Amino acid sequence: MIKAIGSAFILTNEDASYVISIHDRRPTLLHYGGKVKESDIPSLNLDYSIPTGRAVYTEGETTLNLVPVEASGLGKGDYLTPSYSLEREGKTVFDFRYDDYWINEEPDGGNPFPRPRGGEELVLLLRDLEGQASLELHYIVYDHAIARYCTIHNEGARYLYINHLSSFSLDLPYLGQKGYFLSSSWGAEGQAELLDLPKGELRFKGLTGSSSDCFNPFFALFAKDAGPNHGDAYGFNLLYSGSFEISLSRDSFYRLRVQEGLPSTDFHYGIKCNKTFYSPIAILTYSDKGANGLRRTNALFIHSHIIRENFLHAPRPVAYNNWEATYADFNTMKIHSLVSQAADLGVELFVLDDGWFGKRNDDKAGLGDWTVNKKKVIGGMAALADYVHERGLKFGLWFEPEMVNPDSDLYRSHPEYVLSERKEPCLCRNQLLLDVRKKEVQDFIVKTIVEAVKDYRLDYIKWDFNRPFSDVAQSVVYDYYLGLYDVLSRICRECPDTLFENCASGGMRFDLGMMSFFPYTWVSDDTDSYERAKMQRALSLGYPFSTFSNHVSAKISHQLFRKTTLGTKFDVAMLGALGYELDLNHLSGLDEEEIKEQIAYYKEHRELALFGEPIDLSFGENIVMGAKKGDEMLISFCSGVNRPLPSLEILRLEGLDEQASYSIATRPEYFDIRDFGDMINHISPVKLKPDGAVANVVSKVYRYPSETTEVTLSGAALAHSGLKLGMKWSGSGISKTSRIMFDFAARAYYLKKVE
Ligand code: DGJ
Repeated sequence: MIKAIGSAFILTNEDASYVISIHDRRPTLLHYGGKVKESDIPSLNLDYSIPTGRAVYTEGETTLNLVPVEASGLGKGDYLTPSYSLEREGKTVFDFRYDDYWINEEPDGGNPFPRPRGGEELVLLLRDLEGQASLELHYIVYDHAIARYCTIHNEGARYLYINHLSSFSLDLPYLGQKGYFLSSSWGAEGQAELLDLPKGELRFKGLTGSSSDCFNPFFALFAKDAGPNHGDAYGFNLLYSGSFEISLSRDSFYRLRVQEGLPSTDFHYGIKCNKTFYSPIAILTYSDKGANGLRRTNALFIHSHIIRENFLHAPRPVAYNNWEATYADFNTMKIHSLVSQAADLGVELFVLDDGWFGKRNDDKAGLGDWTVNKKKVIGGMAALADYVHERGLKFGLWFEPEMVNPDSDLYRSHPEYVLSERKEPCLCRNQLLLDVRKKEVQDFIVKTIVEAVKDYRLDYIKWDFNRPFSDVAQSVVYDYYLGLYDVLSRICRECPDTLFENCASGGMRFDLGMMSFFPYTWVSDDTDSYERAKMQRALSLGYPFSTFSNHVSAKISHQLFRKTTLGTKFDVAMLGALGYELDLNHLSGLDEEEIKEQIAYYKEHRELALFGEPIDLSFGENIVMGAKKGDEMLISFCSGVNRPLPSLEILRLEGLDEQASYSIATRPEYFDIRDFGDMINHISPVKLKPDGAVANVVSKVYRYPSETTEVTLSGAALAHSGLKLGMKWSGSGISKTSRIMFDFAARAYYLKKVE
């Protein structure tokens, strides 16, 4: 809800109030956080007229070094980081003052960047005192978020240059808050850091042109005393997939300025007379219930306003992807056998990854030539699609539509399609970017995808993006994304029911911009379960599990050589969209049985795994994540490195109905007896030689079962006493309840209200 009250505006959603007042004709922030009342507004104002030290001011006006302004420029006495930096004919000082406001029941549709659905909008119009430019501050209120963006309009005859523009600027009082940031790089996406905020500035820049190469655009602020379930928690994000910048600056007084938007490095964008420049849209969320409250708020917002309606409640199919089984080296026989085996296991979607087109046998050639390699796919793609569909599976293909290899027919016939300001652009993974700003490139991509969907009867597409930008300025990146979003809108309009999976060498474009079109993202090429559990914990603060695509991969990780059981891999991968990515020909009969059980378990709890509220229940070194919906919860428990003398582990579950009773059960798991080494004789009734012929034969027909947990406890006991997990094996004491946890092992628990 938005209300104008005198010279103030109060924006209210289910979690927060955002109060702005006009001070010296500048919009200033009175409050952003837990809800306040309209009647509080006059008393939220502070008298800023007390001059401080060497403050500069215009006569009769307060000095800007104290005022929590909603937009900040250069050269008028506000020495914290500016939210905009403009230039006309070498001059950089502008002084935007409030002129007017209006409220739109439906948000203004002018912003060309992805926009959340719905909302009610407040627009504050500011004009430069010396004329010729205006600044609009847009606030869109949703049930669980406030979106902000701004526009600059050039009213002068000469070019106006934008050197920097934040989507928002928020001046909070500094009260010892901590910042939570997600650094990111290939194979190690979503690495969380909780930092104190120093005086001066903390600035995080992602300049590679793909949102999450360096940092994820999501970040958070926590009150000094906030805990997992209590205290002020603020979330910030951008609906944008290109280069961006986060800045947190603190002055010597009390202001903590928070900004996120376009980068201030190498950005120089000229706008003509009467033209408007738009910042991408930023999302601000808040919870007074700490990190888990913020998780819930972000999940609710993203599910209701970002994910395309067709996929809002659609269960993601259990996928099989051939990449780690074959890489680009496959033939029709191999693919047919994988399809048949996947179908037998209960898989619902078969995805043929990179290598099916042009002269693509490795990453050196073929990108751009999206015609089927009939030596590898005999009979053509439509025939393979039939083969897959006849076995009851959906069918999908990998594409990397924004790229080209110099060794490709596309490059040879259209070298001008390449994006570069230089004659010899840098290669990365032997490939170049296409110039998606160009209409002919846009049409080429749309035609390629739409025709493939129709001709090959595709149910799904994996859209990959495997290199950062180079050889162009940041303003080109901005235009590139305007072009790309246009392409994605056209494709989604033409193929509304095709499921798209977003991928950029894993999660290098894990952002709300891409999620506005593609409902889920391949989180990382690192499929090791412990690494993935860390990512799930970190990324779920900003994104719901339905946006995560996770695969169970081979027992020995292709990225780390770390060995874990298939059960452990599943226990982590189940939170999100589940898939399998390993050579099915290498599975034993018992492995197959195990995967069938996993898939059946997932299908039973899929709704919860995808759309449940993410909850962090981690303690000690254990990463414990839950997905909660109604009276049920699915819990993924991932342990770290084993230590001697393990301590008692207690899983505390807050927030359940304290009067009710809940049953909790472990998912039954099994171990390969050979993994016990010499200890095999502690679990075997007859003496066996470890890895001997008999042990090998027995291991083919017998799996050693994990402990079983089946308890009923009240919500009160779960909150105040907790679930005591069985003692961990520590050199002795094998029993039906003691937990055998190899290093980095995981378990799944299902909780349900019983009365
Ligand atoms: C990078 C992706 O993250 C992988 O899953 C795979 O699709 C390869 N690209 C194929 O080139």
